[in-house]
Amino acid sequence: MPGKLLTGSNTLEHEILLRKAVLKIPSSNFGVFSLYKYPAKFIPQVPAFVMENYAKKGMKVFDPFAGFGTVGYTAKVYGLDYELWDLNPLLEYFHSICETQPKPLDKNLIDKIKAHSQEFIPDWSNLEYWHPEEFISLLSKAWSFYHYSADEYSKKLLLVPLLKLTKYFSYADEKVHKLYKSRYAREKVEKLLKEDYKALFYSLLEKELGNLEQKLKEYQSLNPKKVNCKVKASVDVLEEDLEEPVNILITSPPYLQAQEYIRTTKLELFWLGFKKDYIRSLAKKEIPYRDVPKIEILSNTYHTYRTLIEEKHLLELYDNYFFAILSVFERLSEKVLDYMFIFVGPAKIRGQKIPIHQIVIEHMESKGNWVHEKTYIDRIVSRVMFSTGRNPATGIEDQRMDKEYLVILKRR
Ligand SMILES: C[S@@+](CC[C@H](N)C(=O)[O-])C[C@H]1O[C@@H](n2cnc3c(N)ncnc32)[C@H](O)[C@@H]1O
Repeated sequence: MPGKLLTGSNTLEHEILLRKAVLKIPSSNFGVFSLYKYPAKFIPQVPAFVMENYAKKGMKVFDPFAGFGTVGYTAKVYGLDYELWDLNPLLEYFHSICETQPKPLDKNLIDKIKAHSQEFIPDWSNLEYWHPEEFISLLSKAWSFYHYSADEYSKKLLLVPLLKLTKYFSYADEKVHKLYKSRYAREKVEKLLKEDYKALFYSLLEKELGNLEQKLKEYQSLNPKKVNCKVKASVDVLEEDLEEPVNILITSPPYLQAQEYIRTTKLELFWLGFKKDYIRSLAKKEIPYRDVPKIEILSNTYHTYRTLIEEKHLLELYDNYFFAILSVFERLSEKVLDYMFIFVGPAKIRGQKIPIHQIVIEHMESKGNWVHEKTYIDRIVSRVMFSTGRNPATGIEDQRMDKEYLVILKRR
């Protein structure tokens, strides 16, 4: 495959450091924005940048691939109404925590969990692959307390600490954004089993509850407003429709690269009580790992890159990906009154970068109602290798340096 097919410099493209471009959000991990490691989560500055510069009072924003729900938590800070959708049921849980006003914690909560004798065992044949027996009995008591004994407020507060501890007390590597049994994770479990892991579990639970309280307070310091919101978790974007118009669509669609959100959050979903068949049915709806009705794609860039893919399964993935996201944007855009902001990360097929942003722009412009106003190019700061972005030896743009694109489409 040729290495330099990317579109050249374009006057509508502007470099930006989104992390530094907003006034109201002090840092990416401020308050609830870093409550939990949801894969490919927005840094809050992305939606905040849009809301500071393009939203007006009384407007409603909408994210059809809301994931963790960052757009909603940011919208509250800017006093905007919002609507969030996602296939992943976790969205609803995270959203209910972020809405919570911190209150003093029940001082006896940890003791109550310790004294709880019932067990909750997830409906999962693979459970013992992910946890040693010793941890299953510890976790099942805590989760039974969560499911059957906790009051509504304690339930909200316990959720994230329990999810984090469930991952820590497992063979899953909590440091990566995939469900993955790494060497580090095996060694972690071996080490934990040699310690007083029960005492550690409860002391970490207490620490995490404290962290959560702190994060909720931090978020409240941003003065989130009471706004109207609608949250639809466990929905398939290909089958869902907006009931009312929205002003701004802002979203980051799933990645073209392998990022399976349901699979990645399986451990969480099972302990939350979701059943095997249901989780499987959700995974089958995930974009791009599913068949999607073919649409006519009005983008030369799409067709050019398509000719470079030889393997049948990659071609299927490529087609299903664009059929899915473009049909969704096309259909949902009918009820978007003002702007669409589409944030796409780097994506490669067999080492070839695919300019998803360009394909989205060409297709949406050809459809007639949308005009490309601007694209902001943000560098993924943590992975920058050379400050210039060029390999000093060759002068060629560094392939290892990733960029993300914030495409702005305005209704004509
Ligand atoms: C890049 S992530 C969005 C992350 C989000 N911006 C955040 O701040 O957390 C893409 C999301 O698309 C969702 N998704 C994948 N297929 C979907 C489908 N068919 N319907 C609805 N959502 C889907 C995934 O569950 C994932 O949460």
